[in-house]
Parts: sequence; structure tokens; C-alpha cells
Amino acid sequence: MSLTPQWLDELRARTVLSTLVGKTMKLTKAGREYKGCCPFHNEKTPSFYVNDEKGFYHCFGCSAHGDAIRWMTDQRGLPFLDAVKELAAAAGMEVPAPDPRAAQRAERAQSLHDVTAAAQDWFAAQLDGLEGAEARAYLLKRGISDQTKRAFGLGFAPDSRGKLKEALKAFPEPMLVESGMLIQPEEEAGRKNRESYDRFRGRLMIPIRDQRGRVIAFGGRILGAGEPKYLNSPETPLFDKGRTLYNLDKAGPAARKSGRVIVVEGYMDVIAIAQAGIPEAVAPLGTALTEHQIERLWSMVETPILCFDGDSAGQRAALRAAHRALPLLKPGHSLAFATLPPGQDPDDLIRAAGVKALEAVLDSAIPLVELIWRSEHEALPLATPETRAGFKQRLAALTATIADNDIRALYGRLFRERYDGLFFAQRAPQERGASMQARRGGTMKNGRWTPPPPPATADAHAIRESGGDALLLRAVMSGLLHFPGEIVVHREALASLSPSDERLAILLDAMLEASDREETVETDRLLTILGERDLYNMAKGLLRADALNFTFTVPEADKRRAQRDLAEAIAVIVAMPRIDAELAAVTRAMADNLDEAGYARQQSLRKLKADLAARVAELAQPLDD
Ligand code: UTP
Ligand code: MN
Repeated sequence: MSLTPQWLDELRARTVLSTLVGKTMKLTKAGREYKGCCPFHNEKTPSFYVNDEKGFYHCFGCSAHGDAIRWMTDQRGLPFLDAVKELAAAAGMEVPAPDPRAAQRAERAQSLHDVTAAAQDWFAAQLDGLEGAEARAYLLKRGISDQTKRAFGLGFAPDSRGKLKEALKAFPEPMLVESGMLIQPEEEAGRKNRESYDRFRGRLMIPIRDQRGRVIAFGGRILGAGEPKYLNSPETPLFDKGRTLYNLDKAGPAARKSGRVIVVEGYMDVIAIAQAGIPEAVAPLGTALTEHQIERLWSMVETPILCFDGDSAGQRAALRAAHRALPLLKPGHSLAFATLPPGQDPDDLIRAAGVKALEAVLDSAIPLVELIWRSEHEALPLATPETRAGFKQRLAALTATIADNDIRALYGRLFRERYDGLFFAQRAPQERGASMQARRGGTMKNGRWTPPPPPATADAHAIRESGGDALLLRAVMSGLLHFPGEIVVHREALASLSPSDERLAILLDAMLEASDREETVETDRLLTILGERDLYNMAKGLLRADALNFTFTVPEADKRRAQRDLAEAIAVIVAMPRIDAELAAVTRAMADNLDEAGYARQQSLRKLKADLAARVAELAQPLDD
């Protein structure tokens, strides 16, 4: 079809988008635009806007965005050409004559659809006929009702090499081959061309429909035992496995209504689930979920639920889908994962325990981020520093595959928080910033939350309040502002700090957050981010190095040396309160019970403290070279 960009522009210009959209949903005027509740995701307050001037709609909730043609394809589910035709008719425009080759292609596709439709009719008739007795008994055994059988267009292919070929002889033989209904044996040298024959023999026939409900292929299940269990149509001009989902035509509208779509592994699962009253299930076609299929699912709902077997094959399939989805993630969209009891598919589960049992499994679905965490956490034992570092690296590598900046940063942050919670001693939560609280919000292990540790003793607080190391902390913060790249390097240690100075605590928190949010942060950029939180002046003040005599706050200083000293200072800051707390505990214990061991411990802690203080004094020396 020769649709030029100019012609399409004209079509868009003549279409009043708000009128078009207003046919399917309620819009109210909002200034120069119209707004309403977004039809692409579930919402109660409108964030979907239509702008007639620009000819675009946009949802601030789910980022759905497009023009009139996009509306017709995405919301109404029309193929591009049909969308154009319908809009053209409404706009009083004539669709330009198609070019002959495209027309030929379209015609051939049309007639291949006729072939598959005719085949389905014939298969259905066979199922109801004399030869279908065994298949009917099989359906009965599997608990599939007559109504379900009709709703899914089930049929039967008799065990014969030529009956379908004979029944469809009104179509040219090459078309029967092209549609996948007949097999044409390869030509072999020195042999006469062999006859084509029926592909599906002695099988229960499950028609596969496209989004518009047209039959495009078949899955054929063997009735008894045997290999292969399912024989599927080959890829044909009608059938592209990776772009199709079984039952998409029925599940799509149902999913938009319920806000839920369920992905299961098998045809029979979809059918059993539908019979149990859940129409919004689809299945890939015997292959791993493709990017196209994931995008297709996201066009229906925000978070499709993948429901896979609890056995290792099913869990591998779930993980493969999870990894494939990471680079594709976009704000508002994700996947959820429901795990079935090992060895049971949804069909088995419904028959054994009813649809409630399946609903319970679906309700316990976990988010994508959780699946990634758990699978890496459980992949190997994490008893040694090396294996723990490996775990951290695997999480980082997976996070790095996320293309969306915000989502990547948030995954990184969440994984680091959990990792810290798992392997690093936690300090007392204090009454301040919510994100600091979240960082201390306990840890997740094997799906269970471990609550955060109880607050530190009053002694530890009292000593920190004395402010002995406040100056050092200010210097360190200044150093970090000079070298923001160091924030991420010392992230764990910094996150474990609880500065008693409220303002410093908030600033530290904001700096950690900023470095989580962006890959690399320069000082200027960091100041801008801090400025958004009214911390600019404070940060600027700390940056004025002349107030603080530390090597790592002098920008002209040798960077390597500054980084090394900064690392040491942070170690001191982290160690000090712990030493103080322990010293306080030992001292208090000695008040009750004077003993040698306690005294020795007290002395060694005092020495440690003195050493650290001396080191700090060294760091604070002005640079003389
Ligand atoms: P299952 O074997 O789990 O399917 O394969 P199922 O639907 O539970 O089958 P029943 O209950 O034994 O009848 C899942 C899917 O993998 C594809 C099919 O799409 C099937 O629905 N498959 C399986 C094949 O394409 N070929 C096979 O030989 C087996
Ligand atoms: Mn099954």
C-alpha cells in the first residue's frame, strides 16, 4: 500500500482526536485539553490527556502515548491498515490504491486464512463424527465440557495421510502446503517427487487464533502416550510463533476489563482456566516468552502474572522470562511471578483442588525484583566473602541490563539495601528521614522479613551525642562533596552511620540517594540535586575547604591521596562509635564486677581509641607540599 507520510499527516489532521477517543471513553475538558481515566491502565483519577492541537494523547500514569492511528491499533486492537481505512472513511478521504505486490501478498494471506478456517471446520466436524469417538472420550476424561470444546473450536485430525488433503482439495495444493496443513517431502536427487500428505494425523486439534480471532495455526495433541506430545504448525506467512500468544483474542478484552492477564505454559492450561471461569489467560507457543510477547502483554495490563510450574524446568522458564524483561522494563510496567506446586500445571491444580487453589497461587505472586533477588540469593551458598561478592556482582550485572535509568537506579538501590541488611551489622534506627528508615527496615531472607535490630543502648547514644567526631564527619562529608564518586565506593559504611547532627544526617542521606540515582555524579550535579532538597547552602559551606584542615578536602591535593585518606577517615568514623559503645558497656560491667579481663579489655579499647584519634590528627595536618 502506498501510504505516503504526507497522506498520513493529512489523515491525522482531519481527525479530531478527542472526538475519536470520546467514542470509547468519557472525556472532560481541561483547559486546552481533554482528560479522562486512562484506558490503558487501571486508575481512578484521570491522568490521560488528549490534545487536539497536537493530535496526541498522553497518559501521565502509564506513559501510553500516541496519535489517532496508534489509538486505533493499541486501544481498539485493529491492524494498522484497518485502522487507517476506518479513520479515512470517517475523515472522507480515499485510501490510495495499493501497490500490486502488496495487494497480492494481502490476497494470499487472505486465502491462507481461508485454508486454516476450512481446516478448522473440517477438524471440528471430525471430532463430532464417527471417527472422533476416541478424541471425545479423551476430552471427557480430561473434564472438558462441550461448551468449552466449542468455545475453543477444538477438533480432531483422523489418523490418515490424505483425508484433510482430500477434504480441502478446492484449494490449490501449494496453498495447503504453505499454510502448514500438508507436508511436502523434500525433493531428493534421483527420486521422483513424492506426494504431499496431511501434517496432523490422529491428534486432538487446538486452533491457534490471531488477535482478531482468525485461525492461523494449530497445535495437535496426541491422544495417548507418544512423541511428540504436541505437534504444532510450522511458521507460515500467517503464523509467527514469537509474536503470537495462544488465546490472545479472548484474553485481551477480558484482561483490559479485569486488569489482570495470566501467562501459563500450555494450551490445555489456558483452556482449563477458562472453563473454570478465568478468561484472561494466554500461553506462549511452546517457546520461551519473547520480547514481542512481553510487549504485547504490557499493552493489555501493567503487570502480567507469569504462572509457571514449581519444578526446575518451570522455574528456569520463569527466570528466562525475567531476564528477558529487564532490558525492556518501563515505568509502571513489570512482571509478577506465581509459582505452582512442583509437578502441577494450572490444569492439574484446578482439577485437584479447584479454581480457588489457583487463585491463591496467583495471589501469592511475587514481583520481578523479588524473583531476581531470590534466584541469585539461592543460586549458591553465601558463606564466604568471595561468594558474597560474587552474589553482589551477579545482582549488579543483572541490574546493568535494565535500560530505563530510573528503574535501573531503583533496582540497584534496593539490591544494595538488602545486601547490606544481609551481610553488614546494622546500627540503631533513629527518628529521621524515611529513606534512612527504609534502609534499616529489616532484611528479606528466603521470602521472610527479618525485622531490624533493636536500638543501640543508651550509652552508645550518649557518647555519640558528645560530638567528639562531629568535626571529622563534617570533613568527610566535605571530602565526598569534592569527590562524589567516592560516595558509592563507601556506600555501605556511610549508610551505617547515624550522625547525631540532624542536618548532617539529612545531607548524608540525600548524598547517598543522589549517588544511587545516577551512575556518576559530578560535584556540580550533586549540588543541583541537593539544591532540590534545600541543602545547597549547607553543602556549599562544607565545600569551602579552608574551614577544615583535611587532605581530602583540598581540591588541589593529589586525588589518589585524598581518596585513600578519605577511606581511612570513614573507617575511623564507623569504628569510633562502636568502640565507644563497647567501652561504655565494659565500663558499666566493671562497676558491678571488677575483674582482670574487663580491665584489660577496657585498656585495649582506650588504646584503640587513642590510636584512631592520633590518626585523625594526622589526617587533619595541613598539606605542606
Ligand atoms: P505441557 O506438556 O506442559 O502442556 O507443554 P500441557 O498443556 O500441560 O499438556 P497436557 O496437559 O499434557 O495436554 C506446554 C506447552 O508446550 C508446548 C505446547 O504449546 C504445550 O501447550 N509443547 C509441549 C509443544 O509444543 N510440543 C510438545 O511436544 C510439548
Ligand atoms: Mn497439562
